[in-house]
Amino acid sequence: MSSKSILSFLFLLVLPFSSSSDTTGWIKSGFWYAGSDLAVPEIPSTMFTHLHFAFAYINASSFELYISYSDEPYISTFSETVKKTNPSVITLLSILGGKDKSPDFFAMTSQFSRRKSFITTSIRTARQYGFQGLELNGVNPNTAANMTNMRTFIEEWRTAINSESKSSGTKRLILIMGAHYSPMLESMIYPVETILRNFDWIHVKAYDYYLPTDDNTTGAHTALYDPASTRNTDYGIKEWIKNGLPANKIVLGLAYHGYAWTLVNPNHNTVGSPSRGLAITRDGSMSYRYIKRYMKSYGGIPVYNSTYVVNYVTIGSFWIGYDDVEAIRTKVSYANGKGLRGFAAFQIPSDDVDWELSKAASGEEEDHRGSKRRLLAILLPTITITVLLISTIVCILKKKTMRSEGIEVLNERAIGSNLIVFSFDQIKEATDNFSIKNKIGEGGFGPVYKGRLSDGEEIAVKRLSECSKQGVEEFRNEVTLASKLQHVNVLQLQGFCIEREEKMLIYEYMPNKSLDFYLYDPVKSLKLDWESRVRIIEGITQGLLYLQEYSTFTVIHRDLKASNILLDDEMKPKISDFGIARLFQKDEKEANTGKIVGT
Ligand SMILES: *[C@@H]1O[C@H](CO)[C@@H](O)[C@H](O)[C@H]1NC(C)=O
Ligand SMILES: *[C@@H]1O[C@H](CO)[C@@H](O)[C@H](O)[C@H]1NC(C)=O
Ligand SMILES: *[C@@H]1O[C@H](CO)[C@@H](O)[C@H](O)[C@H]1NC(C)=O
Ligand SMILES: *[C@@H]1O[C@H](CO)[C@@H](O)[C@H](O)[C@H]1NC(C)=O
Repeated sequence: MSSKSILSFLFLLVLPFSSSSDTTGWIKSGFWYAGSDLAVPEIPSTMFTHLHFAFAYINASSFELYISYSDEPYISTFSETVKKTNPSVITLLSILGGKDKSPDFFAMTSQFSRRKSFITTSIRTARQYGFQGLELNGVNPNTAANMTNMRTFIEEWRTAINSESKSSGTKRLILIMGAHYSPMLESMIYPVETILRNFDWIHVKAYDYYLPTDDNTTGAHTALYDPASTRNTDYGIKEWIKNGLPANKIVLGLAYHGYAWTLVNPNHNTVGSPSRGLAITRDGSMSYRYIKRYMKSYGGIPVYNSTYVVNYVTIGSFWIGYDDVEAIRTKVSYANGKGLRGFAAFQIPSDDVDWELSKAASGEEEDHRGSKRRLLAILLPTITITVLLISTIVCILKKKTMRSEGIEVLNERAIGSNLIVFSFDQIKEATDNFSIKNKIGEGGFGPVYKGRLSDGEEIAVKRLSECSKQGVEEFRNEVTLASKLQHVNVLQLQGFCIEREEKMLIYEYMPNKSLDFYLYDPVKSLKLDWESRVRIIEGITQGLLYLQEYSTFTVIHRDLKASNILLDDEMKPKISDFGIARLFQKDEKEANTGKIVGT
């Protein structure tokens, strides 16, 4: 059984749904990101008229279009696979021009020969893999020279596409653009006239208006309206139209992700409340699927705010702003009412397991949901925990890491700054000179001791035995990186100590030992009732999804075992040892360059 199918089984992802098929020019498009954990055959193709394969890139030296090595197996079968369930779905190859300044894109557009390399290879690749169109995504020119080059490029691209169609006698490739929510960029306006003449349509990225990495108050990142600001979709759409783009050339982008903030005061928890920065994930971004799971585990009642047309939920001091079913529905009906061309969901894999958002967007009825929930409640506890758990963990982690375009650059200020540097004497005292009675384990990387700091706080000290080869600076960097992974189901690194040839990692202490302590002992395993087992599976899965989504620690799967799942005082699981594996296996680290995010 493949890792993907195990996951599906575990959460009963694959549930049948009905589909309607009235499509009179209304575009229902969605993105599939090749780095996501949704297998191509599981894409609910029947809910969409267009599917984007994301992403192809621009080679910075040859200026040809390129597909990253790890995505090649998917791109070659993508069109064919999604057409099996929906023969009329149109597939589009999405090309990431870049983020922010898009240096590769603008370097490409600056010379005729480079443009030619790109244009030729983009058309060839689309044809080779059965795509019916190309999309240029994420290009925001910010100098006049960039703008001029971009215009020239667009004209040449369209000309080449038209003539390829004539000479090959095949249907012309669709050409579209994923654009900023408003034509107004920082210092420029998009060349609306050129866009109108050459692109079949554009889809506006009507999200990411507020980010916990940039804004010190909570924000409606998908605000449809905002009486107090221009950062909202209605404003952007009106600007596009005002600047000459007809409504029927505009497809409305929908976000299937939200953002999590840490509130200054949990009682001040509406849109615009003071925030200390991001929460839960490395950059605060969370897929809808993850948000739902998070709420299921930790509670929280979603609030719908019709002023902005967004949802948010407060959980402790965390505040998550996102679009739930009612927000998505309202946005789609807004698009309809404004005479827009359709919607573009970014991205399908972030949708909940039963495709709630996609169903809402495509206007499908959500029947039988209650009965699915009941089924889930009956089936889940009967899943055999031990075997499945371990194999799932191993398989999940073998997969490629998941990234979403919502992930922005890490905010160095907000996280990682709490790491404590301990002195050797402090640790020595806390562990009673590394006394054997305080030794609580022996991991692959050295012994682990329980300690008690002078203020009474209990800690776990991992005394690394083999990484002395590594330089101090390098060690510090790795540790800082590991400390940035912050999730309730991931063991939190609290600090470190580098002194006298010693390298030690200091973690929070977990009183209930590790999962293997319960699993393989018939008496102790009785302590775990079904309910807590299910909670543990859910917790581990959340932790893994998080690590998978946000970490660059691609080596975890070699180390993860039941003994690395620690249990806190409430029997909540925390994954340990994911980060330090990397300290020992740097050479084997997978090259992750050229990826859009998480870098
Ligand atoms: C980019 O093109 C150069 C020159 O053709 C080639 O050597 C290199 O491998 C390409 N890089 C990628 C990532 O495809
Ligand atoms: C595009 O703009 C950037 C500045 O953002 C500049 O560095 C670059 O040289 C420009 N490229 C071209 C081809 O004009
Ligand atoms: C929040 O950010 C604004 C600018 O974006 C700044 O003027 C203000 O001082 C900041 N407030 C705090 C408490 O950091
Ligand atoms: C939406 O949120 C704003 C700001 O938090 C608040 O002023 C407004 O009353 C809310 N509107 C609704 C309908 O909940």
